[in-house]
Amino acid sequence: MTTPTIELKPSSNPLSDAEREAYMANPGFGRYFTDHMVTIKWTEGRGWHDAQLVPYGPLALDPANMTLHYGQEIFEGLKAYRQPDGSVATFRPEANAARFRASAHRVAMPELPVETFVAACDALVRQDEAWVPPHGGEESLYLRPFMIATEVGLGVRPANEYLFVVIASPAGAYFPGGVKPVSIWLSEDRVRAVPGGMGDAKTGGNYAASLLAQAEAAAKGCDQVAYLDAVEHKWVEELGGMNLYFVYGNKIVTPALTGSLLAGITRDSLLKVAADLGYEPEEARVSIDQWRDDTAAGTLTEVFACGTAAVITPVGTVKSAGAEWTQGDGTPGPVTLRLREQLLDIQRGVAEDTHGWMHSL
Ligand code: PLP
Ligand code: COI
Repeated sequence: MTTPTIELKPSSNPLSDAEREAYMANPGFGRYFTDHMVTIKWTEGRGWHDAQLVPYGPLALDPANMTLHYGQEIFEGLKAYRQPDGSVATFRPEANAARFRASAHRVAMPELPVETFVAACDALVRQDEAWVPPHGGEESLYLRPFMIATEVGLGVRPANEYLFVVIASPAGAYFPGGVKPVSIWLSEDRVRAVPGGMGDAKTGGNYAASLLAQAEAAAKGCDQVAYLDAVEHKWVEELGGMNLYFVYGNKIVTPALTGSLLAGITRDSLLKVAADLGYEPEEARVSIDQWRDDTAAGTLTEVFACGTAAVITPVGTVKSAGAEWTQGDGTPGPVTLRLREQLLDIQRGVAEDTHGWMHSL
């Protein structure tokens, strides 16, 4: 199908430059939102229609809206970066669009064409370009495309009407400490996803499933939870919102995609960036015993988490019910920092984009 034309209805009350700059000076993550949003409707028998760029604002939902009851919802996360010449580019939006389609399929929602997803993100970034932070720092404009059902009714079945929305938010570090290493709680009983479930889809239910374990981890003084596989409770999968990498000298290992963890776009990009830098990236199963024993033996030198929001964040300490250890000397390791710098340099337009990942607006 062709991409619906996105009709602009400009904000009648945008923030002043001074207000916007005050927000952007200390954006945090997901706290402030830009002046506009894109909305596109889907109706059974009619397809995608009514694509609009409208002022950011509340959505009016009927209390019997199906998403509110049965959780049919999917989302994405990608970033736009200011380039050295002042232009703006997004990182791998087509990859997010493809994953959005896969998530839609998993929760029986209509699959938005890749070009419509990308056009919607482009339209919002162009309109609210003043919200893209300056070149050079780590700040970016985080885009959050999502889709909900809009049909009203309590029957349990796929809805026949949906709303796709893109909102945007200036983003600094996801963790308040920036590149400071995070502490991890190894959850040996609570699982995030199961084989045959929807762990590889970016749907809200997976995040709801992670929150209790996350709260328990916080009560134990940890920043994040690492989830294990749901069958043997032995194989490391991922964190609630990030993938993991294990550094063995020159060899860099990330847990293989089993169907119950999310195929992160940062994870995939790092497999390629690591090879470009001369490391040996590998997708393999990693057990908790291996994590603990190889750290003690000194062969597992660094561990880091990666994702769009978190970029690359080192792991400093690890706790489980029966053990606790420090990763390396507890400070960010050189391989972690090297990969982080290289990825950010590509995204900021400083390093050559040999994989064709940057999408210029
Ligand atoms: N795993 C989960 C559960 C996530 O929510 C995310 C964030 O999007 C990731 C991994 C990392 O994915 P990406 O690198 O595409 O942001
Ligand atoms: C992202 O990195 O885009 C995510 O969706 C993860 C979430 C924890 C913010």
